[in-house]
Amino acid sequence: MSNTILVGAQFGDEGKGKVIDLLSGEADYVIRFQGGHNAGHTVEIAGERFVLHLIPSGILHDNPICMIGNGVVVDPSALFEEIEMLNSKGISIEGRLFVSELTQLIFPYHSKLDEAKEKSLGSSKIGTTKRGIGPAYMDKTARTGIRVVDLFDEKRFRAKLETNIKMVNYLLVKLYNQEPIDVDSIFNKYMEYADKLKPLACDVSLMLNNAIKQKKQLLFEGAQGTMLDVDFGTYPFVTSSNPVSGGACIGTGVGPSRIDKVIGVMKAYKTRVGEGPFPTEFCDEMSEKIRLVGNEYGATTGRARRCGWLDAVIGRYAVRVNGIDSIVLTKLDVLSELDEIKVAVGYRYEGKIYNEFPADIRVLTEGEPIYETFPGWQKDISDINRYEDLPDNAKKYIHSVSEFMECRIDIISLGPDRNQTIKLVS
Ligand code: GDP
Ligand code: IMO
Ligand code: MG
Repeated sequence: MSNTILVGAQFGDEGKGKVIDLLSGEADYVIRFQGGHNAGHTVEIAGERFVLHLIPSGILHDNPICMIGNGVVVDPSALFEEIEMLNSKGISIEGRLFVSELTQLIFPYHSKLDEAKEKSLGSSKIGTTKRGIGPAYMDKTARTGIRVVDLFDEKRFRAKLETNIKMVNYLLVKLYNQEPIDVDSIFNKYMEYADKLKPLACDVSLMLNNAIKQKKQLLFEGAQGTMLDVDFGTYPFVTSSNPVSGGACIGTGVGPSRIDKVIGVMKAYKTRVGEGPFPTEFCDEMSEKIRLVGNEYGATTGRARRCGWLDAVIGRYAVRVNGIDSIVLTKLDVLSELDEIKVAVGYRYEGKIYNEFPADIRVLTEGEPIYETFPGWQKDISDINRYEDLPDNAKKYIHSVSEFMECRIDIISLGPDRNQTIKLVS
């Protein structure tokens, strides 16, 4: 495996955790580059289920070194909770987990602001995970964020915290009609975190670039998905980071010339959690059916995921903006019971046909998808491990998806377990 970026090609939850786990056996480093504990990446190994929010999914293998890059926003309480969860399952992070000194921190007031803002938006809310992700990235771009390195200078940390909390309390009290928060308790808690973060903190960019010189293999683990990208997604119904492949360079300090390959993970249908446009969304009854078969509940918030048909306009756009070389098609098994399967190939809006992803989200919310229909295979495929053994209609669907997306499909996933996978190339 060469230096590879793995991204979600849809609205998140495409099965990135499973695929990262599959590829981590050959990786020397697995690196998260954006997002925070809004992510929930599931890995199933021999019936045991792990959900990772901040720590790269590669941690479940013995060898890879796992890193959290500068592009991530880290809530230390979530990080240490996850480390404890892993320890309780006999997985040690000792000497295998590092966090960039440049990483921005999430504070309890970020989640408070996230929640208060969502509440104030009423029916126009984004449907965030309320983890404080947006407000933490707001602080970063406003140049008032507090980074890991700031915790190691008590005086500087205290000064920054006091300035920020002054502003936060103004918003909480004046705008959101809430109680103000206290500096001391947060300061004391984060000084405790400082001691625990010290052994993990490092220069991620330097370590990764040295590793590249030694011909080590890097695997970048994207969180969320292309449609949630703050630039390329269904803005404003997006997250506040760049889950697209370009985000991996910015979020780690590894230059684009050092990247060899981009993999896009795509479900054989589509899901979305939270608000925002979803042109191919099923009716309630069908959504419920697929949600049940595909176990489509959020790995972070437990919310029911909205479900719908695959969308080739969005898929092709994801291939383009990420420069995807190869697709991993997941959850094909979930479609097995259906008589027919649809794929949207365009949208009709105000008498015009759209074949490319539009900038104006009204085309997505008010437009009507144009579908192509495929016959189903109506056979359980979850135990099949050779492409040749798949039903003909499943092969036809895979072939058509590849043509629609104008991209190779190299891996097909037929179940949550590591072993329920067909590799089309070795
Ligand atoms: P991520 O955020 O992209 O890592 O995806 P999530 O873990 O949030 O959601 C994907 C869900 O689908 C998890 O419960 C996985 O265990 C499960 N999963 C992954 N691949 C497959 C597959 O091919 N078939 C089925 N049935 N489940 C899968
Ligand atoms: P993984 O990595 C699916 C969605 C939220 C909301 C929007 C903004 O598991 O694929 P935020 O809390 O980020 O400000 O919420 O983004 N969202 C996700 N949806 N999978 C995720 O991560 C998500 N992370 C955020 O539901 O619509
Ligand atoms: Mg997820």
